[in-house]
Amino acid sequence: MDRMNWIELAYLIAALGFALSLKWMSQASTARRGVLAGEVGFGIAIVATLFWPGITGEGFILIAVAMLIGSAIGVPLGLLVPMTAMPQRIALSHAFGGLAAGLIGIAHFFLEREHFSKFDLGVIGIEIALGMLVFTGSLMAAGKLQEWLPQRPIVYPGQNIVNAAVLAGAVGLVIYQIYNPDQNWAVPAIAALGLLFGVFLIIPIGGADMPTVIALLNAYAGLSAAALGFVLDSKLLIVAGALDGASGLILAIIMCRAMNRSFSNVLFGAFGATDAVGEGAQEQGTYRSASVDEAADLMKIASSVVIVPGYGMAVAQAQHKVRELADALEKEGVDVRFAIHPVAGRMPGHMNVLLAEANVPYEQLLDMDEINSDFAQTDVVLVLGANDVVNPAARHDKSSPIFGMPILDVDKAQTIFVVKRSMRAGFAGIENELFFNEKTQMVFGDAKSVVAELTSEVTGQRDAIGL
Ligand code: TAP
Repeated sequence: MDRMNWIELAYLIAALGFALSLKWMSQASTARRGVLAGEVGFGIAIVATLFWPGITGEGFILIAVAMLIGSAIGVPLGLLVPMTAMPQRIALSHAFGGLAAGLIGIAHFFLEREHFSKFDLGVIGIEIALGMLVFTGSLMAAGKLQEWLPQRPIVYPGQNIVNAAVLAGAVGLVIYQIYNPDQNWAVPAIAALGLLFGVFLIIPIGGADMPTVIALLNAYAGLSAAALGFVLDSKLLIVAGALDGASGLILAIIMCRAMNRSFSNVLFGAFGATDAVGEGAQEQGTYRSASVDEAADLMKIASSVVIVPGYGMAVAQAQHKVRELADALEKEGVDVRFAIHPVAGRMPGHMNVLLAEANVPYEQLLDMDEINSDFAQTDVVLVLGANDVVNPAARHDKSSPIFGMPILDVDKAQTIFVVKRSMRAGFAGIENELFFNEKTQMVFGDAKSVVAELTSEVTGQRDAIGL
């Protein structure tokens, strides 16, 4: 085998690492292994590339400098950014990926254009536009999530016409440069329109929809990388780009399905920014509230408790306290499980990540489909900072914005305690009829403090009677 064969073999192993990584990351229990497989794949791909013929001493120096700069940004990002800021951190990574793809495309065009076929020219034009779009689009998404930019959708009259004109301009320029590759201005102009389109695409979308948008931008970044792979004749880039593109698209579809929304509704619907109120929100009657002691008393004597975490648990950073409560209840002989809705929180796997951080055993985490039929036999459900994902209106109120969204059927349990700070609405901006159910009792307060109090109540009572 010559050197190129070894490199191709290494690339094949790297591609296998990427595929296994995606497979393992789809389950909480194997996700760490998935991350490791991806890292090993990338490591092998980078080392193999260093053996590429034609890389000279100067090339190695440039690569080393690039790696140092990348690590200087990447390591602090990985170590310092808190879990709650993960969506915007991921958006930043996509921004860098898009920028890299766009810049490599531009450099490659100017270095190699005389050898390009018309197909190559078309592909590189699309690749540059997509890479640049992902760059500014992801920066905008990160800015909205971090609240550096206004979260509300920015809309103005004629917006769709302006957006369509920018897109048509970029497409027109790609076609133009296929036939006029010697024109130096066309490719920078494609890049500029891509940058502009990324901004225009994101500003009309509300901040809360950014996680879905990031998954879509991820898919575009993958497409861009795959297109670059065609131009550079790199099978590894084609495979990695295709995996990235497909997984981003599948993730966006899963998120849209779990919210019962379409792509067009996410991209143009400004969901969560309006005061969307379904019929069910008009007059809900009265609600009952309970003290922490009352809730603790009942949970302690229950034989089964299901904890339903939501966005409020993430805001309060209550995951470690929740683990302590679960441990305390289990010591009392209570069967404790967690019900995980696919879009609870604000990013895919949000609840799984937080509970894993708190070392809650994976087997205690049950997906919606696994747990829903058990609620009718559950004594107590503790809804912790969750709202939309437990709203029964999704099952029957056709006028509700969340109608059709699959929910956790917590209203079927014997007793439901809802921990939140007020009667305010959640992400969808609608009232929750669960709060007015006669089996429900509201326990008002910050999730972390309420759970801490519940735990000391459970353990304190236990100590008092000397068990
Ligand atoms: P939400 O419906 O957003 O409700 C969260 C609740 O947490 C709020 O009603 C809030 O009530 C409470 N809360 C906030 N801070 C709290 C704190 N410190 N302590 C206690 N409670 C607190 O959350 P959910 O049930 O998790 O549903 C997620 C929503 O986000 C869905 O509508 C979903 O479609 C949407 N979404 C999800 C994703 C992904 S991928 N997960 C992406 C985009 C959109 P108070 O203000 O009264 O405390």
